[in-house]
Amino acid sequence: MIRKAVFPAAGLGTRFLPATKAQPKEMLVLVDKPIIQYGVEEAAAAGVNHIILVTGRGKNAIEDHFDVSIELETFLEARGKTEQLAEIRKVSNLINFAYVRQGEPLGLGHAVLVAAELVGDEPFAVVLGDDVIDAQPSALKQMADVFERVKGPVLAVERVPESEVSAYGVVDIAESLGDGVYRIKDLVEKPPRAEAPSNLAIIGRYILTPDIFPALRATAVDRTGEIQLTNGLRRLLKQRPIYGYEVKGVRHDTGNKLGFLKAVVYFALRRPDLAEPFRKYLKTIDGENRA
Ligand code: G1P
Repeated sequence: MIRKAVFPAAGLGTRFLPATKAQPKEMLVLVDKPIIQYGVEEAAAAGVNHIILVTGRGKNAIEDHFDVSIELETFLEARGKTEQLAEIRKVSNLINFAYVRQGEPLGLGHAVLVAAELVGDEPFAVVLGDDVIDAQPSALKQMADVFERVKGPVLAVERVPESEVSAYGVVDIAESLGDGVYRIKDLVEKPPRAEAPSNLAIIGRYILTPDIFPALRATAVDRTGEIQLTNGLRRLLKQRPIYGYEVKGVRHDTGNKLGFLKAVVYFALRRPDLAEPFRKYLKTIDGENRA
């Protein structure tokens, strides 16, 4: 059972400036829910009940979002707005939250290390909130089931176009174990296209074991000045098997503008209250663009 999930959320979100000048990028909204809540709900659906958010300066809105708001609850209660009340209570009741600050922007591997003490000596998940995955069962639940089977670290992987491999950690496969599960031979962080061992990219979900911590402590910063989780995993691979798993679902990379916009449209079209009028509207602007 995976009880804890680490959410690195210390990044500055410079790709979305000026929207992210005074607001964390994790709080940008897909329809009516902040991006990070999609990841939190996914983790909750996998049985996670402790979330460790690795934050930095200017991220208070995330803490407030997952906290109880007595003022708002009293207001909604007094006005008999029971539906909205239930919705916001769901958020604060979802799970336990702990916050730890990264301090310096030393990369994803460092963010995971900062959470070491709160994770303790048990397997845990890492969720990169930018990747929003629509899946049933939830992506992390699928991965937790694979973890039960293989009893080793599981990284979510996805085939990406070759032109995009240099934006990801890329895995080299030793063997396929069936049903989307692979044993990994090697992994490399953001290789040039010509040097990529495959087009199987690591996407933002990991189930890790606590032996990743000593491996990360022994991992030097790379040429970008960061400790890469991929390089820590590469070190750990010398000691134990590590697995890749192709999640069955639809992933949106909301960390770039086009991916973000696609995700807004995708989730709006899945909402019973919005799908029909929104689809109608989209058809009209498509016509205008062609005219
Ligand atoms: C990080 C990881 C990379 C992984 C990616 C998935 O990179 O370092 O290995 O493929 O997340 O989103 P980032 O996107 O933070 O640059």
